Amino acid sequence: MSAARYAVFGQPIAHSQSPRIHAAFGEAEGIAVDYRAIEATPAAFAAALEAFAADGGVGANVTLPHKEAAFALCATRTSRAQRAGAVNTLLRKGQAWHGDNTDGAGLVRDLTARHGLDLRGRRVLLLGAGGAARGVAPALLDAGILELVVANRTPERADALVDAMGEPGRALSAYWDALREQGDFELIINATAAGRGDGAGFSLPLSLVNSLTTAVDLNYGEAAIPFLAWARAAACRNSFDGLGMLVEQAAESFQQWHGVRPRTDDVYAALRARDALLVTAD
Ligand code: ATR
Repeated sequence: MSAARYAVFGQPIAHSQSPRIHAAFGEAEGIAVDYRAIEATPAAFAAALEAFAADGGVGANVTLPHKEAAFALCATRTSRAQRAGAVNTLLRKGQAWHGDNTDGAGLVRDLTARHGLDLRGRRVLLLGAGGAARGVAPALLDAGILELVVANRTPERADALVDAMGEPGRALSAYWDALREQGDFELIINATAAGRGDGAGFSLPLSLVNSLTTAVDLNYGEAAIPFLAWARAAACRNSFDGLGMLVEQAAESFQQWHGVRPRTDDVYAALRARDALLVTAD
């Protein structure tokens, strides 16, 4: 029998930080980790995952564009994956995959443990209603926020996300063009892919911001620049990118596979230093 293998599946996957993160966790915790990146097209994803399992694959992360496909392939799922409708962590159980979604827990841990925010009783604005937004919405509600307002360029997707949360009254949708009427928020999260495109800037009403507002982009690197530039111009109290969430969701996956919660601070600091180099290098 082959050694236990782990991998991240995505397309593109060459720039994924996950192999580096899991190798660093394994080294720090004294656990030998065989974790690699596997590129698969949507059409080839299911077969690639089966081949991986046949070759000793017992755990995997799944990233763009496969999170919904992974959800559909699982025989069983955690309730947070069920609510998100997307899976980023797979665990082999017998002859089948068990699916989880650690993105939301990763975000909440980054905001609370690393940045010291108290989410309880806060109004939260979630921009976007795609896979990234769906991954984090359940955990935000579970963290005890007062209200989650979801705004998306295509309003029907915001409505669908809110319906999937099953918390009428606490999770609401809003029209992007009418955000001015929504009052102010202590937390504004960019879960859109807008910054990944041609660099078009963000234009959001300044009325969304109060003296406590933290702005978080789930992207990191260059994709986070437009939203974080808006946040600074709008005088948000804090603004963070998604690098901390990336490390924390990986730690959640690591814990499920290896039974140990790895320390994340050193890995985060190393990635932050590297990210700064990449962002400033032209
Ligand atoms: P992901 O898994 O990263 O969430 P996705 O499921 O394709 O990717 O979702 C992309 C999100 O970014 C969607 O909310 C999308 O809005 P639409 O549902 O209207 O497509 C949003 N998005 C992409 N480009 C955007 C832009 N230029 N302005 C605002 N929102 C944008």
